[in-house]
Amino acid sequence: MENRNARIRIAIQKSGRLSEESFRLLAACGIYVKPRKEQLFCHSDNFPLDLLLVRDDDIPSLVSEGTCDFGIVGTNVLEEQSLQKKTSLKNDNEIVRYLGFANCRLALAIPKNFPYQDFRSLKNCRIATSYPYILAKYIKEKKLNLQITTLTGSVEIAPRLGIADGICDLVSTGATLEANNLQEVETVFKSQAVLIKTLKDFSKEKQGVAKLFQNRVEGSELANGSKYIMLNAPKSALSTIVTLLPGAERPTVMELQGDANKVAIHALCRENIFWETMEQLKLAGASSILVLPVEKMMT
Ligand code: PRP
Ligand code: ZN
Repeated sequence: MENRNARIRIAIQKSGRLSEESFRLLAACGIYVKPRKEQLFCHSDNFPLDLLLVRDDDIPSLVSEGTCDFGIVGTNVLEEQSLQKKTSLKNDNEIVRYLGFANCRLALAIPKNFPYQDFRSLKNCRIATSYPYILAKYIKEKKLNLQITTLTGSVEIAPRLGIADGICDLVSTGATLEANNLQEVETVFKSQAVLIKTLKDFSKEKQGVAKLFQNRVEGSELANGSKYIMLNAPKSALSTIVTLLPGAERPTVMELQGDANKVAIHALCRENIFWETMEQLKLAGASSILVLPVEKMMT
């Protein structure tokens, strides 16, 4: 019988910037969870993992209290809450990995007709935000005097309502600012998704499952940034070509049948391969260059 204590529980944003990519990451780890409508707790049938779908702001505390073992959350929420608690992040939850998705920035924005020169133009302005602690830290560093108005939502309409002169809010595409006739002027904090882990102790069985899960996340993340390249080249160009391959492990070199002067080179590159690199390879004598995506990786 399955040991219930050996299942891990992960908190994920129910809907919003992080949700879709969080599910994609689990799928890339071969973990299938099918959330049913309005269900906040979901069970994976092919991996000992359960999901809790919640608001992103609730994720750090669910993990630090040990209700969930892992969580996927933006560094914006982590930073704001850790500044609020005045504890270092490390004492709260462990950051297992930066995930590189849900990238956005916390930025200062003002109405388009505001006469703005540099951040000193904001002196004594009223700024509405849901991130008062990150903003307070920023203005302290900049030695800027501002009045912070804390709002929990709809921050972007505050200037129009006359309750603020500008805002400090999350921006990714900039569409929300544009729709509200606001212009972005300063970046306060850059955010991305991270995998966090509780600092509470795991049972031995759970430790094993947690390790397996972390290895799969790492494997899919490594694969994500990697490419497999195959090309043919004159033997004489081998050393030049190998130095052109970005983040390559030791390449495999094979002689081509029927042409003793040419070799086939296969290599795993730990970085993306751009057209510019392919053009340089071609100039160095390479031909039949193929770049393939890598789906999974175990090192
Ligand atoms: C943020 C922010 C804006 C929007 C900006 O909300 O408050 O409404 O994203 O994105 P855009 O530049 O692509 O238009 P979000 O729902 O992410 O924040 P929340 O998790 O705090 O609700
Ligand atoms: Zn939120």
